[in-house]
Amino acid sequence: MIYFDNSATTKVAPEVLKTYQTVSEKIWGNPSSLHAMGETAFNLLEQSRKQIADLLNVKPHEIFFTSGGTEGDNWVVKGTAIEKRTFGKHLITTAVEHPAITNSMEQLRRLGYDITYLPVDKEGRISIKDLEAAIRPDTILVSIMAVNNEIGTLQPIKEASDVLKKYPKIHFHIDAVQGIGKGIQSAIFNDRVDFVTFSGHKFHAPRGIGFIYAREGRRIAPLMTGGGQEKNQRSGTENLPAIAGMAKALRLLLKDEPANVKQQQTVKETIFDHVSKFKNVTMFTQRNDGFAPHILCFAINGVRGETVVHAFERYNIFISTTSACSSKKQVESSTLAAMKTPDDIATSAIRVSLDADNTVAEAEEFNKVFDKLYAEFSKLN
Ligand SMILES: Cc1ncc(COP(=O)(O)O)c(C=O)c1O
Repeated sequence: MIYFDNSATTKVAPEVLKTYQTVSEKIWGNPSSLHAMGETAFNLLEQSRKQIADLLNVKPHEIFFTSGGTEGDNWVVKGTAIEKRTFGKHLITTAVEHPAITNSMEQLRRLGYDITYLPVDKEGRISIKDLEAAIRPDTILVSIMAVNNEIGTLQPIKEASDVLKKYPKIHFHIDAVQGIGKGIQSAIFNDRVDFVTFSGHKFHAPRGIGFIYAREGRRIAPLMTGGGQEKNQRSGTENLPAIAGMAKALRLLLKDEPANVKQQQTVKETIFDHVSKFKNVTMFTQRNDGFAPHILCFAINGVRGETVVHAFERYNIFISTTSACSSKKQVESSTLAAMKTPDDIATSAIRVSLDADNTVAEAEEFNKVFDKLYAEFSKLN
């Protein structure tokens, strides 16, 4: 089996599963309980928080646990809107965000907020000039993804940060769900970024766990109100086995980051260099500069994406159409639409998404199967 759908989700690492199980069996008290079992659980919770903070070079009280990327994105967008509603009601984002951002923005729009979606070029990238032009006196949030989940474009976070230095009151949020462990940490954590969203299941932690980084002194209103866990900012009994597992997963992810990034880039290039030679192939992702090492999106012109996905599946190779969220809904990719890709080509898009465990041998196997399928599709067409 070759699993090339790591942007949809990753397999829980055995070490992480072991932590999850040990904590579930042995440290199952509620961190809020006053007795010794509660204290042990609380200590592990805070130890996990510190471990994550140390790995990212931030302060432990700047880390807030959530249920994943969707919650993190919802929280920063709506939490900013509520917190800063008396200062302004204008929010800026890009035309290529994950639905966790765009649907949160749309919900706010229906409540009277004003949303600007920055357009993108043919590589799916915003322009800094457009960002600068969009900023208004009533702008309260700029939210930009670090890595596009459909085609892997890196957004110019550092340049956007330089612009936003002139507007210190605006919250600056990065959706880094696809960006962690991909060699771009210094961009994600520069000194102008206020909030960052992460999701555990994209780096071998279990589903349903994630965290946000919130810079000290920056406030957003809580969305999950209740018992006040997470310093009154996010309520709900903590998912301690998953939190401890996620801390371990992050350590494993960042341990050999440069080597892992290189490995993914090499595998990506092995596929890129092969498929891009074919006449009827449209590449959306570029080979290297400006793109993440783990996502490759392209189309076999005239063949629907889901047909190609199922054809690869016959050979036990698992890929996807552009994103896991949109693939079952038969909607066209929002990123490719924003890039003004003609509909007939956009519906042919497929995504190969990698992990450090993937090998060049797997890429070569993929290429062999690609040759067979391309020949089959050419005959049919
Ligand atoms: C860029 C991006 N943001 C947010 C999310 C949502 O994360 P989760 O699946 O943890 O809710 C995803 C998931 O694919 C994503 O790719």
